[in-house]
Amino acid sequence: MCGIVGYVGYRNLESVLLVGLERLSYRGYDSSGIAIISDGELSYWKTPGKIHELEKLLQNMSIQGHVGIGHTRWSTHGEPNEVNAHPQINAPHKIAIVHNGIIENYQSLKSKLLSEGFLFRSQTDSEVIVHLIARYLQDNLLEAVERAMLDLEGTYAFAVIAEKEPDKVIVAKKGSPLIIGIGKNENFISSDLNAVIPHTKDVIYMDDMDIAIVESQAVLFKKLGGAYIEKEIHHITWDATSADKNGYDHYMLKEIFEQPTIIRNIISKTIDGDHIKFDSLRMSNEELIKTTRFIIQACGTSWHAGLVAKYLMERYARVLTEVDISSEFRYRQMITGINDIVVAISQSGETADTLACIREAKSKFFKVLSFVNVQGSTIDRESDGIIYTNSGPEVGVASTKNYVAQLVTLYLFTLYLSHLKWSISSNDLVTMISELKRIPDYIDQILEQKESIRAIADKYYQHREFLFIGRGLNYPSALEGALKLKEISYIHATGYAAGELKHGPIALIDEHLPVVCIAPQSPTYDKMISNIQEVRARKGKTIVIATEGDHSIEEFADDIIRIPHVSEELTPILTVIPMQLLSYYIAVKLDCDVDQPRNLAKSVTVE
Ligand code: G6P
Repeated sequence: MCGIVGYVGYRNLESVLLVGLERLSYRGYDSSGIAIISDGELSYWKTPGKIHELEKLLQNMSIQGHVGIGHTRWSTHGEPNEVNAHPQINAPHKIAIVHNGIIENYQSLKSKLLSEGFLFRSQTDSEVIVHLIARYLQDNLLEAVERAMLDLEGTYAFAVIAEKEPDKVIVAKKGSPLIIGIGKNENFISSDLNAVIPHTKDVIYMDDMDIAIVESQAVLFKKLGGAYIEKEIHHITWDATSADKNGYDHYMLKEIFEQPTIIRNIISKTIDGDHIKFDSLRMSNEELIKTTRFIIQACGTSWHAGLVAKYLMERYARVLTEVDISSEFRYRQMITGINDIVVAISQSGETADTLACIREAKSKFFKVLSFVNVQGSTIDRESDGIIYTNSGPEVGVASTKNYVAQLVTLYLFTLYLSHLKWSISSNDLVTMISELKRIPDYIDQILEQKESIRAIADKYYQHREFLFIGRGLNYPSALEGALKLKEISYIHATGYAAGELKHGPIALIDEHLPVVCIAPQSPTYDKMISNIQEVRARKGKTIVIATEGDHSIEEFADDIIRIPHVSEELTPILTVIPMQLLSYYIAVKLDCDVDQPRNLAKSVTVE
């Protein structure tokens, strides 16, 4: 949440900061601002609204300078308005900060600072940081930052500039992500890679309690209260252009259409002849074979991928697999087993609850294996084992391509483990891999139905409530379909296991309720048909996702979307595609902000 950028160098400062903020806007977008130092003087501008409001504000200014910081906000403390937007300022000492995270003891710090005469203007927790630094600032900004950090409880990544030391940005991190991009006679600061990759591929990941003094010619790192340290420079292979819209109206649509290519790439990276390999795994086959329980924990869409993985792992690898929402998992008393592995699934690799779970798990001596998209993210760096989901930068706030990449990668991992344990034979492995290889073409075929899916969206977009039902491996698909719709169209949608219909949601059904019924060919197909009939008997409208060639289902469907025939275990990869398109077209029809839905952020770095 909240994006931070910073720059020290000789390019056009305004443009580096604004482009950076634009590229981080999926982290939060309710207000934004920048602060710079020019000719030794601090200036700042901020405004509620999206980044283009800030661009408008700066339109006729000629901003000069070599040192600046910027922020795009996702509000936690204080509503989105100009005063609460960052940078937060200490006017007497001419200091500005931008902050991501939550200062948990801000109330007591604020009372103390108020009693000492500091003036607070905002309702933010962040404002205490700038006044604390001002309180401690005598001759040395770094010293003041360090003393302020000792008072702060909670999580933060912050960047500070001050007139007193006009050539530098000082940044500090505890719990929220922060990276430094290393350039030639220039250096960059960002809360994630996206703002840095257009300028440099050389980055340094900051660790908790790291402080960096960033100047144009050098970056010095030290630990809070400790000595200066050397940090490793990582070279990033991500391509900056993959985070552009490429002519599509929205990132979400572009990312939906990228899915066949992404799966082809995953397959070519992971499958070598008839073998599966995970180059980054960092865990031995022996460790995996002796695992008696996987405990998967994740949030949002990644949690849905975990639910699908449970079915796969138990069915094929024959390993007990539990799945938990990270924010719940953390607070229950885990029963630890010596051969258990905790699995984290995360697109961003920064989700606060997921990260807290892996730290908790490691403190209890669990091994942690993570499935992560963003290389170099905190979860990547803190896990024992890692498997990348390789979907490239995902910008649309509602996850699409990375969900499908997670499903494919988890499927491949299941096959890998199952074959290691000989719970599937080499022949089974070959057959399953060759079917997986056909999936990208099948997705292309589903995407070709986009106009008929758009027509279904046009028919139902005014309904204020939807139900999604599925069974077995497609129960998580129902949850994901409902989540996509509510995230981007603000229509209330519930995903349910179809067998549970009779235990409550059936009461909702009347002629006004569209029900998306996920009914591919599977061992529970007949039961699913009974559930669809129950919906029809109560005049519910059925939008059915069914297998090509299944004509008997037509009499139960008001509308029908076809998927090619595949084995049951691969159906979740296909059934989600029409639901992504349905949600997308409904949201577009309702004129919703598809890529940046209200109140949401792509990377949830606060608990
Ligand atoms: C947010 C995003 C979701 C995402 C979830 C978990 O809620 O809006 O799209 O599924 O976080 O994020 P992660 O990066 O851990 O997969």
